[in-house]
Amino acid sequence: MYSKKIENISPSMTLELSAKVKELQSQGIEVINLTVGEPDFKTPSYIIDGAIRGISNGFTKYTATSGIIELKKEIVKKFKEFNSIDYNSSNILVSTGAKQCLFNAILAIIEENDEVIIPAPYWVSYTEMVKISGGKSVIINTSPKNDFKVTVDELDKHLTDKAKLLILNNPNNPTGSVYSEEELLLIGNWAIANNIFIISDEIYERLTYGCNHTSLACLGDEIKEKTITISGFSKTYSMTGWRLGYCAANEKLIKLMTSIQSHSTACANSIAQYAGYIALLEEKNNPDIEYMISEFSMRRKIAIDFLLKNSRLDFIYPSGAFYIFIDISFLKNKIYKDQKLLKSSEIAKVLLNDYKVAVVPGEAFGNDDYIRISYATDEKSVSEGLNRLIQFEKSIR
Ligand SMILES: Cc1ncc(COP(=O)(O)O)c(C=O)c1O
Repeated sequence: MYSKKIENISPSMTLELSAKVKELQSQGIEVINLTVGEPDFKTPSYIIDGAIRGISNGFTKYTATSGIIELKKEIVKKFKEFNSIDYNSSNILVSTGAKQCLFNAILAIIEENDEVIIPAPYWVSYTEMVKISGGKSVIINTSPKNDFKVTVDELDKHLTDKAKLLILNNPNNPTGSVYSEEELLLIGNWAIANNIFIISDEIYERLTYGCNHTSLACLGDEIKEKTITISGFSKTYSMTGWRLGYCAANEKLIKLMTSIQSHSTACANSIAQYAGYIALLEEKNNPDIEYMISEFSMRRKIAIDFLLKNSRLDFIYPSGAFYIFIDISFLKNKIYKDQKLLKSSEIAKVLLNDYKVAVVPGEAFGNDDYIRISYATDEKSVSEGLNRLIQFEKSIR
């Protein structure tokens, strides 16, 4: 008999789809991949050079579980300068990707049957992490009228005395929505009033367009005490494969999370940590990061303009991250090649098999009326991929 809890977990649909696309491409089939959750840029050369220096200098041993002090000090500086939050090194934990930070945080807080409030649409891994912890996800179906941002009214309606944690993702994957300071303050105060921890997953914090990103934990000491701020190097520095993320929280929580990590992976990869240290330390002297952000901004504009001009498909106007969440509800229940398309996954399947464009069905994010496309790929692929989506849309009018 295997663990029922683990048998109950769904594998990551986004990673599975990416693997499927790579398999098709390796067979010589030309597929436009709009599923990607990673920048298509190379890791900037100043970061790679830093890592090579790290290896050459023998920086290849275990480090302290919570991370090297040089990196933690740079993270503290970044929190102060970019997020306006005062943390100390003792508030920081460096992990193998933001994913591990999230795992550590959920395991450190949640006990059997505790409730975790997750606004939908949500990033695919939150609910599965909660299952592993033995907790229970309480999903709030938020409204497209509010760009799928959760409100205090909705939170109130889903509150029980078992609720212990809220997971907020800002900017959001898959919608690209960004919370304003006022919205965050209301949510933060609600959490304090109800003694709820908040995981604020800010991994896309640098990718905002035409608006500023506000960190939840900068909105007062009480909110900061209850918040675990999650970020990392994958998206901003195009370092997905290096597996480097970090988080900040009160000292007690960081100690508990470090203890969990000390018995799972121990420290994050020493070379990746050194590279992360250089990424932060030398960013000001290197234009790479600003360049990548401006490229995303341009591709976003191309994608939005294209959809507005050519398609009837509605979408959530994205202010952050690199995704567009497109409403396909009016395509559902239509007949395509004698088959009634009932679910977003069936629509995604037709798009992949017949139009050779890969998108992620909204089902993966808890909303079956949508699909997610990513513009973290080159401009030509974004335009051609959307073109194919629109051809499909027109074929079943
Ligand atoms: C919302 C969100 N949080 C966390 C992560 C994990 O990032 P990392 O590569 O640092 O583990 C991702 C990656 O796709 C994400 O989209």
